[in-house]
Amino acid sequence: MQDGVVTLDHKSVYRPSEEVIARARIKDWDALSAYAAENPLAFWAERAEELEWFKRWDQVLDDSNKPFFKWFVGGKFNIVHNALDRHLTTWRRNKVAYIWQGEDFSERMIAYGELHREVSKFANVLKSLGVQKGDRVTIYMGRVIELPVAMLACARIGAVHSVVYGGFSVEALRGRIADSQSKIVVTCDGAYVNGKVVELKQIVDDALKPGDLPVEKVIVYRRTGREIGWVEGRDHWWHDLMAQASPNCPVEVMDAEDPLFILYTSGSTGKPKALLHTHGGYAVYTYTTLRYVFDVQDEDRYWCAADPGWITGHSYIVYAPLMNGVTSIMYEGGPSYPAPDRWWSIVEQYRVSILYCAPTAIRGFMRFGEEWPRKHDMSSLRLLGSVGEPINPEAWLWFYHNVGGGRCPIMDTWWQTETGGFMITPLPVVPLKPGSATRPFFGIKAEVVDDAGNPVKPNEEGYLTITVPWPGMARTIYGDPDRYVQTYWARYPGRYFTGDSARVDEDGYFWIIGRVDDVLKVSGYRLGTAEVESALVSHPAVAEAAAIGLPHEVRGNAIYTYVILRAGYEGTPELAEELRQHVAKVMGPIARPERVEFVTRLPKTRSGKIMRRVLKARALGLPEGDLTTLEE
Ligand code: WT7
Repeated sequence: MQDGVVTLDHKSVYRPSEEVIARARIKDWDALSAYAAENPLAFWAERAEELEWFKRWDQVLDDSNKPFFKWFVGGKFNIVHNALDRHLTTWRRNKVAYIWQGEDFSERMIAYGELHREVSKFANVLKSLGVQKGDRVTIYMGRVIELPVAMLACARIGAVHSVVYGGFSVEALRGRIADSQSKIVVTCDGAYVNGKVVELKQIVDDALKPGDLPVEKVIVYRRTGREIGWVEGRDHWWHDLMAQASPNCPVEVMDAEDPLFILYTSGSTGKPKALLHTHGGYAVYTYTTLRYVFDVQDEDRYWCAADPGWITGHSYIVYAPLMNGVTSIMYEGGPSYPAPDRWWSIVEQYRVSILYCAPTAIRGFMRFGEEWPRKHDMSSLRLLGSVGEPINPEAWLWFYHNVGGGRCPIMDTWWQTETGGFMITPLPVVPLKPGSATRPFFGIKAEVVDDAGNPVKPNEEGYLTITVPWPGMARTIYGDPDRYVQTYWARYPGRYFTGDSARVDEDGYFWIIGRVDDVLKVSGYRLGTAEVESALVSHPAVAEAAAIGLPHEVRGNAIYTYVILRAGYEGTPELAEELRQHVAKVMGPIARPERVEFVTRLPKTRSGKIMRRVLKARALGLPEGDLTTLEE
């Protein structure tokens, strides 16, 4: 047996090796956890001290207006100063910030000093187009280095970025631009994914076509060089603007509580919510969680394979790695393009030491077989991570053995767009149980409760709640504070309600079960059933629609839809296919339903709400449960 290789099965507990413990930054989990539980404000203040402040805070936490908590009140800060400027006076000025590989195998590396220069220039570009502190800027780009550059440039001057995932399409983009009232959109001429080009600029043009949005300027980064449409006066090439821009742009001095970004995520209504995060608390929280959980060191090559357009990318591709001075890998394209070992070839080529990805990707790779990872030398890996949905023990063990070579602990991190950073997560020194995200992070208290809000017994399923504030928490829903209170704080007064169910075992380990609201996780992406339904209803043939998620081996959830047609339409297989494509076109390919079934009625409550749980039970052949509220 190779040194340090430990084979595990479903029932095993992984115990960190002496080597893992020896190199870990935090060796005594229990001691620090007890300290943070007793002195949370001191714990967070000490973490904040590790960053640079223009002016120190007067108060660590202001909880006088619950649930609108404020952190590091009175502090003057800018996250970009900590992500970039602070490194310029050290050797890290010359350290590589991002190693980038295009899907076409092209390669770029950018050092901290150069990234600072690009960000400063683009910040000046934004200023020259009239962007001011507090203005929203929509960023809709492929996975290129210019995406973090655009985000950081906004934050540098105090503008609020709203990144829209490049896999979303016309209506999803349009709705997000409208809600944020962005005057500027930053995009690419296209993006390479799975050997195809996603026509990002065309989608922007379509979204803006009705002419009713406040967008004045569209900045286009050239990636593919293909022919695109152009609106004179509105559209500008990134490279033209950058050629004129000065590299000197002072960082805007922000209040700790000033907004940093908004990020839309799906909830239980058709209208996505814009979660708002701030400069100070978000910085302290993401900086600390990455540092402790992935234990990032200067010699690491860290790869978070998420998309920068989701919270995972915001926190753990852009802000936290840069604040920690880490070298990150960024890969543009599809995971199995041109062959199922693309990721493993990247790990081998760049000697990646930390790989953080989603269970759906792992399950996809499992299907291709273990011969693909076996082709590559992945001995550089020392830590693995998982996020986005529960990782089933089979996928955990496959990842552990075939990617980690039986040497690397897996950090299964449970968290949400709303939480800003990891909430329930191991550290390298924590014993692991395959499928459990283990225990709450330092300073976090989580509790599983029943309908009435009473804690449940060990191993009983209930609702996952958080009982303390933490610096990385979203501050509100942009433009809709009432909805923030209603969605997260009204169900269990004094607690943050996560929308997930979970159980806690006899060792205090948390096992996340899944969403209990109308939110689906499809391939780790968060979608609302109501969004899919409204996309269907926007087709002329559809009178009413219902969407549910059913278990899917690779994607976690597959979207099944039930459609009532308008008079005069016939439910043919061709129409079903047309409706699937219609959803992909308006919402994005990730929302394309697995199946469209035509029905004449939908189960509804007397007040007219679709009873999705009844549809789900029927589809799965399960008992339909309490039907007393069913209208017919
Ligand atoms: C939902 C949040 C947080 C980054 C990506 C997702 C599910 C997330 C885990 C995990 C089990 C997980 C939950 C959560 N989820 N991580 N490690 N184990 N479930 O962010 O899109 O806001 O989704 O993802 O259901 O509520 P998001």
